[in-house]
Amino acid sequence: MIGFELSEDQQKWRDKAKAFAENEIKPVSWKIDKGLTQEYPWPLIKKLNEQGLLSMGVPETYGGSGLDLLTTAIALEELAVADGGISFTSSLNSFNSLMIAGNDDQKAEFLPLVCDKDNPGLAVFALTEPNAGSDAGSITTTARADGQAYVLNGEKCFISNAGLASVYIVFATVDRAKGIKGITGFIVPKDAEGLTFGKIEDKMGFRSSRTASFNLEDVTIPESYRLGKEGDGFKIAMQELDMLRVLSCCAVGVGIGRAACEDAVRFFKEQGNIKAVMNQQAITFDLADMTAAVEAARLMVWKSCWKMDQGLPGTLDSSLTKFFAGDMAVEAAGKALRLLGHHAYTESYPIEKYVRDAKLLQIYEGTNQVARLVASRMILAG
Ligand code: CAA
Repeated sequence: MIGFELSEDQQKWRDKAKAFAENEIKPVSWKIDKGLTQEYPWPLIKKLNEQGLLSMGVPETYGGSGLDLLTTAIALEELAVADGGISFTSSLNSFNSLMIAGNDDQKAEFLPLVCDKDNPGLAVFALTEPNAGSDAGSITTTARADGQAYVLNGEKCFISNAGLASVYIVFATVDRAKGIKGITGFIVPKDAEGLTFGKIEDKMGFRSSRTASFNLEDVTIPESYRLGKEGDGFKIAMQELDMLRVLSCCAVGVGIGRAACEDAVRFFKEQGNIKAVMNQQAITFDLADMTAAVEAARLMVWKSCWKMDQGLPGTLDSSLTKFFAGDMAVEAAGKALRLLGHHAYTESYPIEKYVRDAKLLQIYEGTNQVARLVASRMILAG
C-alpha cells in the first residue's frame, strides 16, 4: 500500500525541527554565513543535540534519537529550510559507517561520544584524498598491520567536520596491489598521536559547516578499531554513501529548494498586488515549475529512505535522487534569484545564499555525474 500521511511520530519530529529551524537557526544563519561570528557555532550544535536533532539515526541506547532514515529526512528538510550547512552537520552525525559495520564494542565505545548530551562530538567520514575524489578506489592512505595494531599514514582532504569531530572513520588501503579489495575502514579517535589538521577551507557556501584536511603520520590504533574485515572498506563506504547522499544532499536539497520557493512567494505577496502577479505567466510558471520539482524530489527522498529502512537495495534510488534533488535545488535557487532580481542579489533575502549553498549539492558525496554513472550502469545492467 502507498500512503502519504505522516505518522504521529514523523509529524512530531517535523514540527520540532521546523520550530528549531525558525527560532534557533534562522536568526543566526546569516551571521554565520557572513563570517560575523568567527567561531564554530557550537552553542547552536549543542542546542540541536539537546533537542535530539543532532544524532537522529543513532539508537537511543547510545544516546541518539533512534529515528529511521525517513523520519530523519523529514526533519533534515525542515532544518535545511533555515540553513543547509547545519542540516548537513546533523545528517553526518547519524554515523552510518559505525552503524553499518561497527561491532557492539565499537558502537558502545564511540557512539556515546558523538551523542554526549553535555558535550556532543561530531562524526567524520574520511574517504577523499588530494588524488582520489570521484575515483574513490584509488586512495593511497595506507594501514600497515603491526602486531595487534595498525599504523596509518596519508592525507585526507575536503573532510566535513575535520578538526571538530571526536571520532574519524578513515578509509585506507592495507595492500595497494589489491585495489579496492585492499580498502579498509578504521576508527581513529581525535586525540590519536600523529593526527594533525590542515587548512580550514574558505567555502563559497555551506559556511556553517566546517571543511578541512588532515594528515595521518604513523597514527597507531588497536586492531580492534578496524571496521569489519580487511578489504570490506570500499563496500562499507559505498553503503554509507547510499544513505548519506539521500540525507545530506537530497533531504537538504529539498529544504533549500523549498526555501527558495517560499521566499519567492513571500516576496510577491509582500509586493501587494498578487492578482497582477497571477496574470504574469513569466512569473507564475516558474513558481509552478519550482513547486513541482520540490515535490518530486521530496517523494524521491521519501521512497529512497523507505526502501533502505525496509532493508531493500537503495543504490539506484539513492543515485537517481542524488542528482535530481541536487540539480533541482540549484535550479530553484536560480529561478528565485531571477524572479526577485535585485532584491535577491542583495542580502534582503537569503536567496543569494541558497544559490551558493545549492551548488555544493552537485559536488559533494559523489558528484552528480558520479550519481548518473552509478544509476545508468544499474539501469543498463538491470
Ligand atoms: N553498496 C555495496 N557495494 C557496492 C556499492 C554499494 N552502493 N557500490 C559499489 N559496490 C561494490 C560493487 O558491488 C563492487 O564489488 P565487487 O568487486 O565485489 O563486485 C565494488 O564495490 C566496486 O564497485 P564498482 O565497480 O562500481 O566501483 P568503481 O570503482 O567502478 O566505481 C564509484 C565506483 C561509484 C565511481 C565510486 O568510486 C564513487 O562512489 N565515487 C565517488 C566517491 C564519493 O562519493 N566521495 C565523496 C566522499 S564524502 C564527501 O564528499 C563529503 C563528506 O565530507 C562527508
